[in-house]
Amino acid sequence: MARKIEVDVTDYSFLEEDSAYKGSLLRPIDTARLLQPCFWLEFELSRMTIGWVPGVPDWDVKGELVRMGYLHTEHMKLLRDRIHELPGPDIGEHASPPAGIRDACQRISCAPTFAEFATGYHHLVSKLNRRYEEFMESFDPVLDAPTLDRIRHILVDRDRLLGWAVPFTMFAGIDDPEERDAYREWTRYVNDVWTALEKSVPGSVPDWPAPPAREPAGPIPLQAAHDPRYPLVDLTKYKSAMFDPQSPTYDSVKHMVFINASEMSAAESLCYLYYGVQGMPADFYMDVARHTWDEIRHSQMGVRRLKQWGYRTEDFAWHPPTIPTPETMQQVFPEFYSSLTMVMEPCSFIKKRKSITAFMEHGDPLSSIQSEYDIADERLHVGFGQKWGAKLYEHTGDFVTAGKVAETVKRSHLVKMGYTQEQIDQVLKSFPEFCGFATMDLNYAKY
Ligand SMILES: [Fe+2]
Ligand SMILES: [Fe+2]
Repeated sequence: MARKIEVDVTDYSFLEEDSAYKGSLLRPIDTARLLQPCFWLEFELSRMTIGWVPGVPDWDVKGELVRMGYLHTEHMKLLRDRIHELPGPDIGEHASPPAGIRDACQRISCAPTFAEFATGYHHLVSKLNRRYEEFMESFDPVLDAPTLDRIRHILVDRDRLLGWAVPFTMFAGIDDPEERDAYREWTRYVNDVWTALEKSVPGSVPDWPAPPAREPAGPIPLQAAHDPRYPLVDLTKYKSAMFDPQSPTYDSVKHMVFINASEMSAAESLCYLYYGVQGMPADFYMDVARHTWDEIRHSQMGVRRLKQWGYRTEDFAWHPPTIPTPETMQQVFPEFYSSLTMVMEPCSFIKKRKSITAFMEHGDPLSSIQSEYDIADERLHVGFGQKWGAKLYEHTGDFVTAGKVAETVKRSHLVKMGYTQEQIDQVLKSFPEFCGFATMDLNYAKY
């Protein structure tokens, strides 16, 4: 009689056991171990680029930085999927990079000027890409094809990310010898930081070089650098930029497009949140990066349309971002995020939906379709808010349920807008009515 064979098909622990093999071939667990630092470096690069947005006084460059930060989080997704398929430890519940990688990237991020930030970013991206290229040359194209496929997808962005810094670094200090020396000193420092990390023994603190004695201009500066082409609204006069009657689109359906254009303010506030909130799950950062990039796109589609109509950005007054201080961030971050995703975004659906119809009736299909894409994105953001709003409060030690968060946030939004307690109690019960109080309606009949 044949012997009965018993196999435990759920036991894969042997894949993680040490092996006597000492050759150059990579076991699956070795590949996973090599991918882990790349995942964390992509994460730190996304924090670096998104965190530097408020440090740049240029609307277009702000958009480029968020786009790059978002691409880095897309790379994180590709790497995480593969790490998850392979044996060995996963990324973990919270996004906490190894101390050495975080420390090195933070040191390189704290650049005194934008050109110096750009050179540090370029240095890190070059190192990371070199690593990917080495993987492409050394991983087994049959056994490890799924890893190579992921890296191929990541490398699609290589030229864009590597080439980005060049216009900013090429002429750094060209007309000022002192500036040039300072720039050179910074590039040496960046190189020394990276070398210290590479030379360090796992588990020990790297022998970091002393940083040049100059003040950093980013990331997340206490004062956001703003683009002079986008003059700021006087918030002592109006609750928000959209209420300013001097705006050339005020009292017409075209004001919808100005509201879109002004979403750089939300994007920039999200940049503070992205960099400032640490230790949330990796999915939180992937969602916030997508959200921030979408707000940049909304701002771009708005400004593009305003310019097509013949307006200049200088004709409008623009809303500034919400900037927390170290003392207020525990409260400001969850409050801002929840009021964005639970008040502003759901309430904006009402005027956006009406705008879709109105713009078509006025013979403006582009503005109508813009609002359709906008709503599709906003629906996603409202979902992000439901997923992370309460968790953010929980994360900062202020535990509340999701339902409670929504009510608290709506209440404080209306208090800020100057409504009485009685009015607030009344409108909170009805969603459309609440939005009527929380935001403004447009004159859809006028184009
Ligand atoms: Fe938006
Ligand atoms: Fe949004």
